[in-house]
Formats: sequence, structure tokens, C-alpha cells
Amino acid sequence: MLRAWDTTFHPEFVAGRAVYLQISELIAAEIRRGRLQPGTALPGTRELAKQLGVNRKTAVLAYEELLAQGWLESQTTRGTFVSSRLPESTPTAFAPAAPGSVAPGFRWQDPFEVEPAPVVVPGALVFNDGTPDARLAPVATLASAYRRVMQGRGRRNQLGYDSPLGSLPLREALSRMLNHDRGLSTTPGSICLTRGTQMALYLTARLLVQPGDVVAVENPGYPPAWQTFRLLGAELAPVPVDEEGLRVDELEALCQRRAVRALYLTPHHQFPTTVTLKAARRVQLLALAARYGVAIIEDDYDHEFHYHYQPMLPLASADPHGVVIYISSLSKLIAPALRVGYVTGPAAFVTALGRLRTLVDRQGDTVLEQAVADLIDEGEIKRHTRRAHAEYHVRRDALAEALRHQLGDLAEFTLPAGGMALWVTFPADVDLERVAEELARRKVIITPGSRYYLAGPGTNAMRMGYAALTPAELAHGVEQLGAVLRQLGS
Ligand SMILES: Cc1ncc(COP(=O)(O)O)c(C=O)c1O
Repeated sequence: MLRAWDTTFHPEFVAGRAVYLQISELIAAEIRRGRLQPGTALPGTRELAKQLGVNRKTAVLAYEELLAQGWLESQTTRGTFVSSRLPESTPTAFAPAAPGSVAPGFRWQDPFEVEPAPVVVPGALVFNDGTPDARLAPVATLASAYRRVMQGRGRRNQLGYDSPLGSLPLREALSRMLNHDRGLSTTPGSICLTRGTQMALYLTARLLVQPGDVVAVENPGYPPAWQTFRLLGAELAPVPVDEEGLRVDELEALCQRRAVRALYLTPHHQFPTTVTLKAARRVQLLALAARYGVAIIEDDYDHEFHYHYQPMLPLASADPHGVVIYISSLSKLIAPALRVGYVTGPAAFVTALGRLRTLVDRQGDTVLEQAVADLIDEGEIKRHTRRAHAEYHVRRDALAEALRHQLGDLAEFTLPAGGMALWVTFPADVDLERVAEELARRKVIITPGSRYYLAGPGTNAMRMGYAALTPAELAHGVEQLGAVLRQLGS
């Protein structure tokens, strides 16, 4: 049949993908964008093959593919046409979209509050906000425990769906650990495993917060928690922190003015200031929460690392009123990449968390969970804790010494009794944003403390994590900090 116009195609074939598929995809794309309307006649296979410089068999295969997918129809003796059953479409200009460049064609909500993850600068020395040294993690024992569970050589081989609360062996092991070491009275049924604190916070907040609810938070405090509450519609109410921890009197004043749904706090080593909430305030806080019906979300993120005396027991260990929801994870104890966290609290609440969890993640990595349970039961986690504890103690002192030696009066801090970071204060005229920029040029990364303030000007300080750096690395980082402060004229 003689056609008025030839339909031509200009493919750019790429290696590694069958040519006939590339041709069929190109023709389908031309139909989708409206260049080839329903009923349009296509060149015969001989002509197409010639035009594209391919074997005729390849052209036949491309048409067969399109016929099978319903883009084309074949009319015996007349030839091959774009299927008349396709809807007509308006041709769009040919602008091959760069990958990822197409704007969403639907309504959606950007969680704009959520800060982007920090940029990783290869080879840089990072004073993070207090993560552990993954180089110390018991990876070999964990890997062999994982392999054992995977191969079904352990006590169980569970590769199927499991309880949404998480694998029972780990809940049992954690329950024993929480009851013996942290003074809680949990059962495996009152623990819900999560992939870290952040997920625990999200699930907890999702059950607690309705849009417009007031959630009290420490100021300064932990922004990822704030962002979670805000995403769910909470109004944040900052409560100041002093050298004894959260100002419970200020919280009380807030409760008198507003209905406070929840309080998020880090009582063991306050984030970022590192202070421990004193005993008297703990007693007042628990009574206050019971009086006003405030849920206390206790984030006990670095419980094990306390250097001078036994770690203070969590608020959850002294909660007769059922007001505390206790959250912790293995991120600080072993390594953040493990993504094993947990929540415990009133049993009915934890059961509901499990139900919510099924919608978010169904369940965690049950193989990993069982492997971690084995490490706890075999005493491996305890051994690691002892090693890491001793090492971080040395590193805390090494950072303190380097700061005193290199910076003298420029850097002020109270040596914290535990944790993985120092909260270091600088004179008001030191511009920490500029210091951070200059240091980044020298491949040393710090985060100015202003980002931890929800309200008010705040202290001119920064949180310097020491656990992930060796004493030599700490000394080098502080030396660079000293050089930048001198360069900027402080
Ligand atoms: C206050 C606080 N809570 C919890 C975590 C741990 O979060 P995750 O368990 O999600 O790794 C961190 C880690 O930086 C933290 O600083």
C-alpha cells in the first residue's frame, strides 16, 4: 500500500539490551506521546529494517512484541497499524525527559520539615553528634550468628512472617536485659521491636498525636524527633534545659496553660547538652505527667555509656502510673546500620504499636533479630559493651584534654559523666557557622549547635561526638579547630 508519508524513527541503540526490544519501546513511546495516533499505518517490516539498519527478523520481532502488548494491530493484506482501540492523545513535543526530571502529575505532600541527610565527605574526619565507632563492632561474631540463623542451625529457623512485635527470642533477651540491668518490669509481650529509635518514635507519635496536639520537647533538643511530631500535625512547645536537665517547673507552667499530649525527652544524657536529669526532677516529672495525663516518651539512646557510677535507671523503671513509653536501640551500642530498636510501655499501647507496625513494615529483619538475640544470650554484647565502654571513656578524656590544651579558655565544657559527646561552648563572637565552613575545607566536619534549638538564640555551642574517633583523630580534629579559630581572629 502506498502511504502519503513515511514514518521514520531515530533510535540510538544502546549495548546490553536486545535491539528488537529497543525498537518496540521506541514505537510504544511514540504512540504514548501522541506522535503515532490510533489507526496510523506503520512501515512494513522490510522497510523498517532498512530504515533502522537492522535485520528484518529484528523488525518482525519488534512488531510481534507490540502486537502482543496491544499497541499495534495487524490487518491481513493491508499491513500493521497503531491499534484503533487506543484512546486518541494530543501530541506532545518531543523532549526526551532526563531521568528524574518529570514533575509529579499528582497532588502530594513534601515532608519539607525533614532535614536532608548530612552530606558524606569522603575521607573527612567527622565530629558527629555521638555515634559509636563501627570499627569496634563485633562484626565477625554477628556475621556468623546471622549465617547460623539463616542456615537454620540455631534454635529456630524463621524465614517466614513473624509476630509484628518482632522475633520472640530477641524480645525475650531484651526483656531479661531491661529487667536486670535497667530496673524495668517488662515481658516479651510488652516489647515491640522496630528498626531503630526513629521508627519507634514515628510509630509512638502516630498513636499519640492528633493534628493540633501540643507536644513538649527539650530546648535544645533532638530535631529528628521534633520533625516526626510536626509531620503528624503536632504543635511543639519548647521547654528549657539547665544543668539539672529539663526544667520541670516550666513544664508544669505549660501544662497549666495548655493540654499537653506528650513530652519527648532524653533524661539519661540530654541531647545535645549531655546533662543527666537529676533525681528530684525525675520524681516531680513522673507525678506531673500522671496529674496532667502527659505521655512521657523517654529516649534512652546511650544507656550503657556512663563512666563514673552506675547508669541512672530510666524513668520507666519508676513509673507506677503507666505514663512512660520507653524507647531505645542498638544504634549507639553496636552500630547505627543494624537498625534494631524497641519500645516498651503499657501492654495495651505496645499491642497497638504492633498492629500499626504491620502497616508500615510488616516486621523487621527477623534473621538479624534472632542473631542479635544469640549474641546477647552468649554474652557477646556484654563483652562488646565492656570493651567499647573502656574505649569511649579514654576518648572522652582525650577530647577533653585536647580541647583544654589546644583551645584553653576559648572552649568551655562540663565533663559529662557519660555519653558519647561533649557540649562545648564558645565565646559569643565566635561564628560557628563560619568555623564549620572553614573546617570543612580542611576535611573536618562539625555541626554548629544552633540547629538543636527550637526557640531562642541558644548557647553558642556545638556537640562534639568523640566515640567514633581515636585519640589521634580527636587530637588532629581539635588542632584543626584551633587553627581555624586563630585564622578567623578569635
Ligand atoms: C537523641 C537520639 N536518639 C536516638 C538516636 C538513635 O537513633 P536510631 O536508633 O534511629 O539510629 C540518636 C542517634 O543519633 C539520638 O541522637
